[in-house]
Amino acid sequence: MFWIVFFLAQAAVPSQTERGEALFFDAQQGCGTCHALKGKGTAVGPDLTGMGRLGPQAIAMATRSTITQYVQVVKLKSGGGSFPAMTGKKDEKSVVLFDLSKNPPEKKEVAPSDIASTGSNDVWKHPPAANKIGNEQLADIVAYIKYATTGTKRAVDPADVR
Ligand code: HEC
Repeated sequence: MFWIVFFLAQAAVPSQTERGEALFFDAQQGCGTCHALKGKGTAVGPDLTGMGRLGPQAIAMATRSTITQYVQVVKLKSGGGSFPAMTGKKDEKSVVLFDLSKNPPEKKEVAPSDIASTGSNDVWKHPPAANKIGNEQLADIVAYIKYATTGTKRAVDPADVR
């Protein structure tokens, strides 16, 4: 009897990688609206597959970073105003821009000649940095990123992602 109860209890408790997966793909606070992993999510931001090889601390630092490398503030000739954007596919005829002022980011396809200017980003903040993501949550998410990219199920200690 004890063993039956024990095993049922074990099965009901989600593992760290399961918690991390749920957090990663959470529609409101998650990462999957902008990052794809294991064929799920939306590839607006950089592919995180290469991140999996890094240690938990490095993944956490990159997630919390307030420095942006790829996001640019784009101004179009058509339609007023400027917006922070990630550039997607582009060729001579069109450029895909993901408007990060919208949540989830809005995909826009424009003609290269419609881009009036692009400049360095001083308006957009990476959501986990802006929301000051907690250590417990980030440890779960990092454990999931490592599991999804390398297959390891090693636990990540919240103390290691501070
Ligand atoms: C609203 C979209 C959005 C959300 C939500 C988001 N990210 Fe990002 N993320 C980006 C963009 C865009 C960049 C690239 C920023 C730059 O360098 O210009 C990025 C960069 C990163 C990087 C650095 C990647 C590299 O190669 O340099 C990591 C790691 C990362 N995000 C993890 C996460 C995690 C984990 C979450 C969820 C807790 C998350 N992101 C949520 C859009 C998002």
